[in-house]
Amino acid sequence: MQNAVSGLNAARQSYPFKLMDRFGRKIEYLRLGVTDRCNLRCTYCMPPEGISCTSKEEILTFSEMERLVRLFVTLGISKLRLTGGEPFVRKDLIKFLWRMQSIPELKQICITTNGVLTAPLIPELKEMGLSGLNLSLDSLSDSTYKKITGQNQLQSVLQSFHQALQYKIPLKINTVIQPGLNFHEMIPLSRLAENNPVEVRFIEQMPFRGDHAFVPKGGSAKEILYRLRLEYPDMVKIQKSNSTAQGYSVPGFNGTLGIIAGYSRTFCNNCNRIRITPSGLLKTCLYDHGVVDLKQLLRSGCTDSDISSTISKAVINRSSNGFEAENKNTSALTHSMAAIGG
Ligand code: 5AD
Ligand code: SF4
Repeated sequence: MQNAVSGLNAARQSYPFKLMDRFGRKIEYLRLGVTDRCNLRCTYCMPPEGISCTSKEEILTFSEMERLVRLFVTLGISKLRLTGGEPFVRKDLIKFLWRMQSIPELKQICITTNGVLTAPLIPELKEMGLSGLNLSLDSLSDSTYKKITGQNQLQSVLQSFHQALQYKIPLKINTVIQPGLNFHEMIPLSRLAENNPVEVRFIEQMPFRGDHAFVPKGGSAKEILYRLRLEYPDMVKIQKSNSTAQGYSVPGFNGTLGIIAGYSRTFCNNCNRIRITPSGLLKTCLYDHGVVDLKQLLRSGCTDSDISSTISKAVINRSSNGFEAENKNTSALTHSMAAIGG
């Protein structure tokens, strides 16, 4: 990592990458949480009593979101991912996606979904040229799936999986590893990548449940890697920049495996992403609690240029890594991943 001064010089020199932090990291990837509502209740995402959802008025409207996306595009964003909550529970999401598809500077548009409602929408997603789907799938057993998500929906998710494969939409599987629940399913889940051209990513559980921060017990990236290497000794690291997932290829596999060290935070040096939460907070790190209230700027009549300069300043002052961002938080309460936007 560069020191702050040389990083700032780099930021000034490297137009047209208008969003760059003081460590020289270019920001090209925006994750937009379109809703904090969800039709599942994953144990790692919400406390057992659920989270209280933000009122409709406090959630950005689609036209506010579109204004922000267009503005971020002028600042150099070329990849957009829609997240939630569950994006597809928001009414008119498909219409919004078509609007996003009409922005030529967006080279990639992806969605992270739990896959419950997705299968029937796949043909239209294909038609609009969606760049990729990330599907949350933590178990291949109906009963474990129900234990983790609270709902009996595994078969709908598998339908979405097969439908996306059939329509050749690039597909990634997200599996959050929870020891005692699904650690033993890593190999059956890996077989999805053995038999299909998909990337199966195992994710360390992170302390984002909308209650007090906790230290996950077990299921670290190291333990995940150890288990995979035991099964696949010829597994080879894939060199990919800017991905939070460390990819691995396995001889004979159609697809690949990945490990996301979301709790160990070993990827911060290459982080190229920022987030907007459904209620319009700008997060320059997954672990911060929001650094700019974009909704307030939008609703108080700020011009695009006011908003752009506020965003640029916030990006320049970004924390160097997720530990620093977390330490700056004044509250020990965490946000749920549903309110952060994944
Ligand atoms: N820790 C790790 N990953 C999480 N996700 C949601 N909550 C957590 C958490 N606490 C992941 C899910 C989903 C994506 C949006 O975020 O796997 O695919
Ligand atoms: Fe819903 Fe995703 Fe949270 Fe599960 S992890 S409850 S699918 S928002």
